Amino acid sequence: CGIVGYVGNKNAQEVIIDGLEKLEYRGYDSSGVGIIENGKLRVRKMAGRLSNLEKSLEENPINGNVGIGHTRWATHGIPSDINSHPHTNSSGTIAVVHNGIIENYREIKEDLEKNGYKFISDTDTEVVAHLIDFFYDGDLLEAVFKAEDRLKGAYALAIVSENNPDEIVAVRNESPLILGVGENETIVASDIPAVLKYTKKVVYLDNKDIIRITKAGYEVYDKDRKKVNRRSEEISWDVESASKEGYAHFMLKEIYQQPTAIRDTVERRIDEKGNIVLENISITKEVLEKINKIYIVACGTAYHAGLIGKYLFQTFLKVDTIADIASEFRYSEHNIDENTLVVIVSQSGETADTLQALKDAKEKGARILSITNVVGSSIARESDDVFYTWAGPEIAVASTKAYTTQLVAFYLMALHFGRLKNTIELTCYEEILNELRTLPEKLQITLSECDKKAKNISETIKDKQSVFYLGRGLDYYTALEGALKLKEISYIHTEAFPAGELKHGSIALIEEGTPVIAFATQSLIYDKIVSNIKEVKARGAYVVGVTRKKNEDLKEICDEVVLLEESFNIFMPLISVVVAQLISYYTALLKGNDVDKPRNLAKSVTVE
Ligand code: G6P
Repeated sequence: CGIVGYVGNKNAQEVIIDGLEKLEYRGYDSSGVGIIENGKLRVRKMAGRLSNLEKSLEENPINGNVGIGHTRWATHGIPSDINSHPHTNSSGTIAVVHNGIIENYREIKEDLEKNGYKFISDTDTEVVAHLIDFFYDGDLLEAVFKAEDRLKGAYALAIVSENNPDEIVAVRNESPLILGVGENETIVASDIPAVLKYTKKVVYLDNKDIIRITKAGYEVYDKDRKKVNRRSEEISWDVESASKEGYAHFMLKEIYQQPTAIRDTVERRIDEKGNIVLENISITKEVLEKINKIYIVACGTAYHAGLIGKYLFQTFLKVDTIADIASEFRYSEHNIDENTLVVIVSQSGETADTLQALKDAKEKGARILSITNVVGSSIARESDDVFYTWAGPEIAVASTKAYTTQLVAFYLMALHFGRLKNTIELTCYEEILNELRTLPEKLQITLSECDKKAKNISETIKDKQSVFYLGRGLDYYTALEGALKLKEISYIHTEAFPAGELKHGSIALIEEGTPVIAFATQSLIYDKIVSNIKEVKARGAYVVGVTRKKNEDLKEICDEVVLLEESFNIFMPLISVVVAQLISYYTALLKGNDVDKPRNLAKSVTVE
C-alpha cells in the first residue's frame, strides 16, 4: 500500500492525489483521503482504481490544508468501500491510513469490544483508529505513543485528528516511510516519488520512529520516545525520471532506459585505471578467503537475477552458492555462520519476505551484502555492504531495468571479488570487463532491431492459453524470467522448463500451435537446445528461437527467430531478456491490459 500525508498552505487534496498517483505501483485496488475541512474531518474512500476517487473529488472537492491519503493492496478484507482507508474512530474525528499488517489486531479488537467499541470493516487497520481514540486525551502524539506500544507487526501509519487540526502524526515500523520537507510544508509518504514535485529534501526515518509534522517542520521521537534528529538529504533525481516522458507506459520507458541504466551502474564503478571500485562494500581479501558458502536470497524477478549471480559466483569465486526464494529460505534449515555471505537482492529494498530473511541470516552471524535500487531503504540499512544499482526509479510493476542492473551488479562483484581472491586471471578480468562496458550499446542495437519482431510474435501468442519458455544453463534462468514477465502482465499461463528436462514429463503439454519461446544463446550447449527445439517442433509447437546472430541456421527449424548481438556467454542473459520483456509488453498491450498495474500485484510487497 502507499500512504501520503500533507500539512502546508496548499490544497491538501491536490497534493495527496498527486502523491498517490506516484505511489499507485504499491497497490491500486482501492483508495481514499481524510482531510480537515473547516475544522471537521472529512473522509472519502472507495474500491477501484485511484481515478474513481479523483473523479469523485473533482465533482465534490474537500478543501483543506491538512490531510492523509492511501492507495491499497488488500491483505485483510476484500477491496471494498468499507475496507478502504482511511479508517476512523466511531465519532469520525480521527482517521488512520496504514501500510503493513497489525499482527495482533484480533487481540486488540477483543479488548476494545469489551470497552464498547464497534467495528465496521474487516481490516486490521480499523483497530488502530479505535485504539488511538481509546487513549486520546487532547494530545494526538501522546495517544499515538500509547497506541503504538500495543501494536505488533509491520506498519507505517499516518493519522489526523480534527481536534488537532494543524498536524499529522506518523509512525514507521518495518514499512517504508519518508518525509519530504519543503518551505512551510511537510509531506509524509511511503516513497520518494510522492514528494519530489514539491521538494527534493528528504528525511529517512528509522524503525519505531514516531513523527509529528506541521507546517513549520517535523519532530521525530525514537523508540524510547526521545526527541531525536534525523538527517535530511537532497535527492539527485527529478520529477522527469518519475514520469513517462512520452512513452505510452512506464514499462516501455523502463525497457528502453536499460542501456543508460546499465551504463550508469557500470561506469560509476570503474576508476581511471580501468579497475572496478565498489563504494559501500568493504569486503577484503581476508574476509573473502574465509567465506565458504554464499546464499543469494530474493523474491520474484530479483530471485531470477540471483540465479545468474549464483552461476557467476561459483564460476569466478569458486565458492558454493545457493540461490533461494526469501519466503522459503526463512523456513528451511541452513548451516549459516560468520563464514557465510548472504547476498540479498531487492529492487525496492523493502520487500518484507526478503527483509526478514536478511534479519534471520544476520542473527545467525552471516555477513550481509545487499543489491538494491533504493538508497536508504530498509534492506540497505540493515546490510553490512551495499551495491546500489543505478537504475533510477522503477515504476512499472513488471521489473525490467532493475533486473538487468542487478545482473550487472553480479558481473561486477564476481569480477571484483574474483580478482581480490585471485580466482580469476588479470587478463581474463580485463577482457570480461571490457566486454561488459560494450553491453549498453549492444542492448541499444538489440532493442531497436527486435522491437518490431517482438510485436509480431505477440500478435500470434496473445490469444493462446499457454506459452512455454525453454532454455539450458543460463538460458533457463532467462526462460524463468521471461515466463514470469509474460504471465504477470498478460495473464496468459506460462511455464519455463530446463529444456533437457522436457522429455521427462512436460512435453506432454505440447500440442499443435502451442507457443514455445526457446533461448539458445549458450554456445557450449547450443546443439543440445537445438535437439530440444526439434522435439517440440515435431509435436506441432509454434517455436520462437532467441539466439545469437551467428546462429542463423535456427531459422530452418523455428517459426520465428530473433537474432541478438554477439557477446560472451555470461552476458547473453542480459541481452536476450529484453526480447522477453518486449514480447510481454506488446502481448499485454494487445490484450488491452493495464500494463503498468497488472491485477492482483503490487510493485513493492511490504507484507509477508
Ligand atoms: C513484487 C513485484 C516483483 C518483484 C518482487 C520483488 O512481487 O511485483 O516485480 O520482483 O516483488 O521485489 P523487490 O523490490 O524485492 O525486488
